[in-house]
Amino acid sequence: MNRTAVLAGVGSCLPPKAVSNDELAVRLDTSDEWIRSRTGIGQRYFAAQGTATSDLAVGAGAKALKCSGVSAVDAVLVATTTPDRPCPATAPTVASRLGMTGTAAYDVSAVCTGFVYGLATAAGLISAEVADRVLVIGAETFSTLLNPEDRSTSVIFGDGAGAVVLRSGDPEEPGALGPFDLGSDGEGEELITVPAGGSRQRLSGVEPKAGEQYFAMSGKEVFRHAVQRMTGSAQTVLARAGWRAQDVDHLVSHQANRRITGHVADQVGIPRARCVNNIAAVGNTAAASIPLALDHAHADGTLRPAQRILLTAFGGGLTWGSAVLTWPQLDRV
Ligand code: UT7
Repeated sequence: MNRTAVLAGVGSCLPPKAVSNDELAVRLDTSDEWIRSRTGIGQRYFAAQGTATSDLAVGAGAKALKCSGVSAVDAVLVATTTPDRPCPATAPTVASRLGMTGTAAYDVSAVCTGFVYGLATAAGLISAEVADRVLVIGAETFSTLLNPEDRSTSVIFGDGAGAVVLRSGDPEEPGALGPFDLGSDGEGEELITVPAGGSRQRLSGVEPKAGEQYFAMSGKEVFRHAVQRMTGSAQTVLARAGWRAQDVDHLVSHQANRRITGHVADQVGIPRARCVNNIAAVGNTAAASIPLALDHAHADGTLRPAQRILLTAFGGGLTWGSAVLTWPQLDRV
């Protein structure tokens, strides 16, 4: 038998405070109409003072474990752009707080593609017999990176976490994950960046300029790359899986912008009605966006057993990645 990673549980966690577009418009030169029409976002969640990414990761991880019916795994992976600290990684504290001291735990850094990279890594650990069960969490407090004066990024991103449990299983059973497609293009590193705080800036001999500690994005160019890369990667993974576009029951893309998701669906040939969208409720939560969307679509009954699901993501780096899976029978917790 080929050992394959199989989805065994899903969960998510949002901070309590939802922030509406109108609330942002009080301090930024923007409007609910602009944000909704250009991005599809109606609100996002911002973590309160005293919260860290690990808090959201623990919340999502605990729910995914409960859903899967297991209390321990062999590895915990946290995909994040906003770790609790620059050093150490966030995954070990998350594992310990979930009662798993001694478990392998490390972070995955691929910005908004991080969760798909994490899934592929976890699937590799399982098929190589390094692990039987892996908890993969995407968690962000992206609000901590936002320049409060930059309306083009402040309205897009939000905080949250989503998680899945993978177990070893059979390629033919519902929940089987893969194949994958992963890619990157470092020539585009300036398009999505936090310029200050790393070795490049610290060893430059130049003090950072005002605002360089914040996230910056060339929105228009990123939009174009996002559509092109997610479309290409989705087509590649469909060909690897031997699926046609019309075989896909749900496209769960990184919730970057509702217009981006629509263009990707059109170009791949998937009806827009088959796109899972939760960006209106949570905004763009970077590495957390795909597992949050999966959990929300599972909770509301959109994703049903045996359906064919296509995941695709794009983010800073530039990075991109896609995967396919069939949806398993899962508890709702
Ligand atoms: O998750 C990682 C990957 N990220 C993404 O995929 C995001 C990709 N990019 C986008 O989603 C879009 O480019 C944005 C939502 C960031 C911007 O939308 P856009 O339609 O590309 O707008 P734009 O940047 O071309 O700006 C159009 C106008 C500009 O005004 P002028 O120059 O035409 O007078 C902006 O200054 O809209 C203005 N603008 C805003 N107006 C009101 C930019 N942000 C805002 C805002 N409110 N929040």
